[in-house]
Amino acid sequence: MKLTGRLAVVTGGYRGIGRACAEALAGEGARVIAADIFPDSPGYASDAIAYRKLDVGSEGDWQALSDTLAADPGRIDILVCAAGIAPTKASAHDVALADWDDILRVNQTGVLLGMRMATAMMLGRGPLSIVNISSIWGQVGGSGQIAYHASKGAVINMTRNAAVTYASRGIRVNAILPGLIDTDMVRVQKPEMNAATLALTPMGRIGLPREIAAGVVFLAGDDASFITGAILPIDGGYTAQ
Ligand SMILES: NC(=O)c1ccc[n+]([C@@H]2O[C@H](COP(=O)([O-])OP(=O)(O)OC[C@H]3O[C@@H](n4cnc5c(N)ncnc54)[C@H](O)[C@@H]3O)[C@@H](O)[C@H]2O)c1
Repeated sequence: MKLTGRLAVVTGGYRGIGRACAEALAGEGARVIAADIFPDSPGYASDAIAYRKLDVGSEGDWQALSDTLAADPGRIDILVCAAGIAPTKASAHDVALADWDDILRVNQTGVLLGMRMATAMMLGRGPLSIVNISSIWGQVGGSGQIAYHASKGAVINMTRNAAVTYASRGIRVNAILPGLIDTDMVRVQKPEMNAATLALTPMGRIGLPREIAAGVVFLAGDDASFITGAILPIDGGYTAQ
């Protein structure tokens, strides 16, 4: 058990990658707050995971969480920013500004607000480990989905910025770039869109949420004590090409 005694907050923790991260962190002994927009808990096998309703784009929700953490346990050790949306596939010529704003609010501003809360709480008090879930589409180009690509690219450089800013103060910040992973987000997409990504994935298969969670547990814990600003693809080789 490598994370016994740590307090972790995981956004997007209701399902998919975020849920797998919450379960994997709890499996290593962490106490976990899984945060998401749904009113009620999906139910977790581990008693170490508590569900909390939180909209990552809401300053008020983050302030309320900060107040809760300040009271008990007075700190946060691990933050995993996994909440994300990809509702529009539109390109530069046809993206609606409202859709653009919605995606940036969750995928980019949501990460900023999470990092702001955690760093403000732990600055000068470290250690703190932040793991942001970006995407292969933050690093390489693909067709369409300009708002999603923009938001995920921003998360990569926000990660690097925070890593350098806080490196000397006990706060590590890293990001993971998932390739095609078997979750609701891709299940609702057109099959031909997923097939196109799969066809270009050297390992020739879709990834599993627990394969992302394994990277999160590594980066969150002390085995990664000299790693900050790393951008780790877990993508079956997609971005190696
Ligand atoms: N599945 C993939 O192939 C893939 C690939 C690359 C990156 N990602 C990223 O991984 C992360 C997790 O995605 P997933 O595949 O598990 O999708 P998912 O849709 O299964 O899970 C995303 C979760 O985020 C939550 N969420 C959405 N808006 C929120 C908000 N405003 N506040 C709090 N929670 C919110 C959703 O309710 C959901 O539980 C996302 O950031 C996504 O962009 C996924």
